[in-house]
Amino acid sequence: MTRMGTLLDQTVALDAEFHMRTYGRKPVMFVRGDGMRLFDDDGREYLDFVSGIGAVNLGHSHPAVVEAVCEQIGRLTHVSNLFYVEHRDELARDVATLFGSPSRVFLCNSGAEATEGAIKLARRWGLAQRGAACHRIVSAERSFHGRTLAALAATGQPSKQEAFEPLPSGFTHVPLNDLATLEAAVDERTCAVLLEPVQGEGGVYPCDPEYLTAVRRLCDERDVLLVFDEVQTGLWRCGTPFAWQHFGVRPDIAYLAKSLANGLPAGAIVARTEVADAFRPGDHGSTFGGGPVIAAAARACLRALQEERLGDNAVTVGEYLREGLRTFGSRTGAVAEVRGVGLMNALEFVEPIAADVAAAGLGKGLVLNSIGTHILRILPPLVCGRAEVDTLLAGLYEVVQ
Ligand SMILES: Cc1ncc(COP(=O)(O)O)c(C=O)c1O
Repeated sequence: MTRMGTLLDQTVALDAEFHMRTYGRKPVMFVRGDGMRLFDDDGREYLDFVSGIGAVNLGHSHPAVVEAVCEQIGRLTHVSNLFYVEHRDELARDVATLFGSPSRVFLCNSGAEATEGAIKLARRWGLAQRGAACHRIVSAERSFHGRTLAALAATGQPSKQEAFEPLPSGFTHVPLNDLATLEAAVDERTCAVLLEPVQGEGGVYPCDPEYLTAVRRLCDERDVLLVFDEVQTGLWRCGTPFAWQHFGVRPDIAYLAKSLANGLPAGAIVARTEVADAFRPGDHGSTFGGGPVIAAAARACLRALQEERLGDNAVTVGEYLREGLRTFGSRTGAVAEVRGVGLMNALEFVEPIAADVAAAGLGKGLVLNSIGTHILRILPPLVCGRAEVDTLLAGLYEVVQ
């Protein structure tokens, strides 16, 4: 498959020899990005409908982020969380402001780390409320919360868990959008209900708004925290800073990662102050979390996402995309369902052709992501316009027909 003797070829050989075999990579090597476009080592151009799995909402190599990183890294890269630095506290303020005050923020480096921190905070709060027995977390079947052990325990996908047992205990999984099962699963030992407002990795399944409203009510009645994993849904992907603002249901804790620093490793847990104050000095920490380079990048990213009104773009272009996908479905008969919110969408095929479509798309310069056998996840940078959607649709027609 690869071009013999090229940089790609050498890299494929190194990967095969030295990397642990956790990824099945596609035979393409990207060397440059610009907005929605990616370029491979052979100079070929691609349109990116994956955005680093939702981690580059501003588009590739956004000048504001590049400038912020270069400026900061040239002055100071790292001193630890034992001292004050520039950008960290401004970033905390910016995230708390997006969440709504009064709230506090913990800065970390990834989605799985944010899940771990949110679980620890919920358990710390549960301990203070009702003692050590109050430590259980209820999450959803088919959910995805990360690969570290507690995040994996929260994840509702047995196929990802089975090889790593025993996982930390205290996690229960319930079907999404089924209130009765959730009501039965929540008891006095439950400290939190953890949900993705739109399940991402599981196949792009949005929560019903009525379900989320009822879950909020249930959590209030039973004095249980509502925690939203907004690693994939957040940062205007669903049109609003957090997806909970789209659904109109405010959680007690929410967390972000992926696109927080537009492709650099960053995460943030935000909680209303009363809950956040369950954490005491020494309860949690991170060597790199909130470091000045990443914090500078994240601040620039948040500013640009707002200035460029990319949330509004996600709403309008997302609607245009779903409309186009539905028309594609009715013309080809190949589509079982189109679903999504903003620019987080899935095309579910009738036949198990998702991986083949993604592979053929790559050959046509379209970077696509398949989930399982039937689902194509469409997650472009939020700078995606109608013209790029038209190119995607034209490519899908060619590939499927
Ligand atoms: C909803 C959600 N939570 C957590 C994670 C884990 O994030 P990371 O890969 O940064 O650890 C992901 C990653 O895809 C995710 O989609």
